[in-house]
Amino acid sequence: MTRVLALATSKGGTGKTTIAVALLDWWRRAGQALAVLDTDPNQSITRWLGKSSVFADVTVRPCTQEHEIVPMVRDLAASVDTVIIDTAGFSNQAMIFAVGVSDLVLTPVLSDEASLYEAVRMHQVVKSAADLTGRTIAFRTLVNRSRRTLVERHMAKQLEALGLNPLKARVSDRAAFQEASYHGLSPAGLMMGGKAWDDVRRVARELDKVLLDAHRN
Ligand SMILES: Nc1ncnc2c1ncn2[C@@H]1O[C@H](COP(=O)(O)OP(=O)(O)OP(=O)(O)O)[C@@H](O)[C@H]1O
Ligand SMILES: [Mg+2]
Repeated sequence: MTRVLALATSKGGTGKTTIAVALLDWWRRAGQALAVLDTDPNQSITRWLGKSSVFADVTVRPCTQEHEIVPMVRDLAASVDTVIIDTAGFSNQAMIFAVGVSDLVLTPVLSDEASLYEAVRMHQVVKSAADLTGRTIAFRTLVNRSRRTLVERHMAKQLEALGLNPLKARVSDRAAFQEASYHGLSPAGLMMGGKAWDDVRRVARELDKVLLDAHRN
């Protein structure tokens, strides 16, 4: 069964696109057939993946008409193992459709109050969308740009206390992610064997389990 994962939060710049590309990179190396639906009007992931031939085997579909999201995901799902939906960094109707058609919504959070606030709102959106569609939609948060600071430790506790399902894995703050985005490179190509790539591996493995459970329900 095809897995559908949306990267979503109404807070801009938390790493949705970066993490989407890192996961694509991990799963394509694991031999999966992958597709991306780019619902962000800025089309950042489409530009990133279009810059080099590394991601040539990934199907990339820009989609700026919100009513096309659900049919396009269903269409893509017929021919790949995993569909990743990248969303804009603000609330819009497209985000609701992306959430409603997903098995799992992953919300990257930075170690700041605004990220926490938006993660609480995203959790509510996911619960409402699950209620509306009658589907099981898993929700996880992921601490991105981790520097293991004191405020981050506090934030991690808050995520737990608020029931926001933080992944155990975190993604470290690494300039290589910015470099990869700028040049359209594969994050693995820059970081393979390093600690940041270990983070991506741990995130992908946790998500594999969540997606497996989501399909069992
Ligand atoms: N783990 C990381 N380490 C270092 N830089 C990062 C990391 N994750 C993201 N960034 C940088 O942070 C910025 C925002 O990341 P990104 O574009 O992925 O966020 P986004 O949530 O998709 O933003 P938007 O809401 O605008 O779509 C980019 O410059 C990116 O390179
Ligand atoms: Mg983005």
